[in-house]
Amino acid sequence: MDKELKVNGLTFVPYLTEDKIHQEVKRVAAEVREALPAGSSPLLLCVLNGAFMFAADFVRELGLSDAKINFVRYSSYDGTSSTGRVKEILGLNEDIEGRDIIIIEDIVDTGLTACKMIEDLKRRKPASIRFVTLLHKPDSTKTGFVPDHVAFSIPPKFIIGYGLDLDGKVRNLRDIYVIKED
Ligand code: IMP
Ligand code: MG
Repeated sequence: MDKELKVNGLTFVPYLTEDKIHQEVKRVAAEVREALPAGSSPLLLCVLNGAFMFAADFVRELGLSDAKINFVRYSSYDGTSSTGRVKEILGLNEDIEGRDIIIIEDIVDTGLTACKMIEDLKRRKPASIRFVTLLHKPDSTKTGFVPDHVAFSIPPKFIIGYGLDLDGKVRNLRDIYVIKED
C-alpha cells in the first residue's frame, strides 16, 4: 500500500487495506444470506458506477447462483461534494413486482441517492427491498436513511479507491484512501 497518493492536487492517505475490505465484504455477505427468506432468489441491483468492484466481490461471497444481477445508475456527486440533486442515468427495464430486491451500493453519504432509488423501486411493487452498502457515513446524513447492511461505518471524510472515484479517476485501486487534512 503506497504511503500517500496525489489526485487532482489533493493528497490521500491509506485507510482500509484490501485484506480488511475483503474480510468485511465476506462478513456482510454472510449477514445478508442469513437475513434472506429461505428459498429466496433475489434480484441483485448494483448501483453504478462506484459499486462495481464491491458488487463483484459481494455477489461471489453471497454465492446464490439463482440470484439475477442487474445494474442501475444514479449520479449526484461533482468532484468531492454532493450536489444535492440525484439523477437516474440508467434505469431498470425488468419487471420487479413480487421480487426480493437487494441494492448494492458503494457508499451512503447524504442518503439522497438511496432514498430516491428506494422511492422509485417501491412504486414497482417488489416483495422486499434490502439495502447493502460497503461504506456508510452516518454523520453526513440529510435524510436519516439507515442502510440494512453496512461493511464499514466511517467518519464524513472524502475517500477513494475500490470503485470510488475522484472525477472518474482511481476506481481501480485495491485499497481505500482517505483525504489528508492538515
Ligand atoms: P449520497 O446520495 O449523498 O448518499 O451519495 C451517494 C453517492 O455519492 C455515492 O454512491 C458515491 O457515488 C458518491 N460519494 C459519496 N461519498 C463519497 C466519497 O467519499 N468518495 C467518493 N464518492 C462518494
Ligand atoms: Mg454510488
